[in-house]
Amino acid sequence: MEVAGGWKSQMLLLLFLCLAALQEPLEEKEECIVEGQNITFGCGYNFGKYFRAIKAWQRLGASGPFETLAQTMNNNGEPSFIQVGRYLLEDDPPNSMLKVTILELQREDAGLYQCVIYRPPQVVDILYRPIRLKTCNEFPVYALILVCGLLLFKIVVFSLLLLLLRKARVTGDVAPLTPSFHPEDNGKQ
Ligand SMILES: *[C@@H]1O[C@H](CO)[C@@H](O)[C@H](O)[C@H]1NC(C)=O
Repeated sequence: MEVAGGWKSQMLLLLFLCLAALQEPLEEKEECIVEGQNITFGCGYNFGKYFRAIKAWQRLGASGPFETLAQTMNNNGEPSFIQVGRYLLEDDPPNSMLKVTILELQREDAGLYQCVIYRPPQVVDILYRPIRLKTCNEFPVYALILVCGLLLFKIVVFSLLLLLLRKARVTGDVAPLTPSFHPEDNGKQ
């Protein structure tokens, strides 16, 4: 039983590590960069508080603080649209939504971004979650899924085997040496 217990906890630990590795960090939304593709994010906001506020799209600078890439104009709560280079900002107050699009993604776009309520030069509120754009190497993810799948498969097979073994042992222990007759057993064998 000691051996089986050790095996079980090791498998559980491995399984846990697998699941942890497959999960993205809770605080950030992660997206893979597909070069040449457009990507759009929706940052919802509190309409009552911010429908007239300036909203901005920011990127964490190499030197530390977030830098503003594009910002909406001060408006009267009307829908507005602005483009700065490859960044499109669409403020849609009726739907309490700031839509941000990055056109034609490039590898250099990798980094951490955020949608904010902006009262230059101050950030008043951060909307949604920080968004991390990263270049994804497809292979390790597939390898990870493969390993985790194999592990799960092994666990299932091993558990079934253990169950069968235990069942076989139990029936072996209980089975009478000489068959006895029980009317209710009729048709069960
Ligand atoms: C990206 O968006 C621009 C502007 O809306 C559009 O002209 C272009 O075809 C889009 N590119 C892709 C790959 O969808």
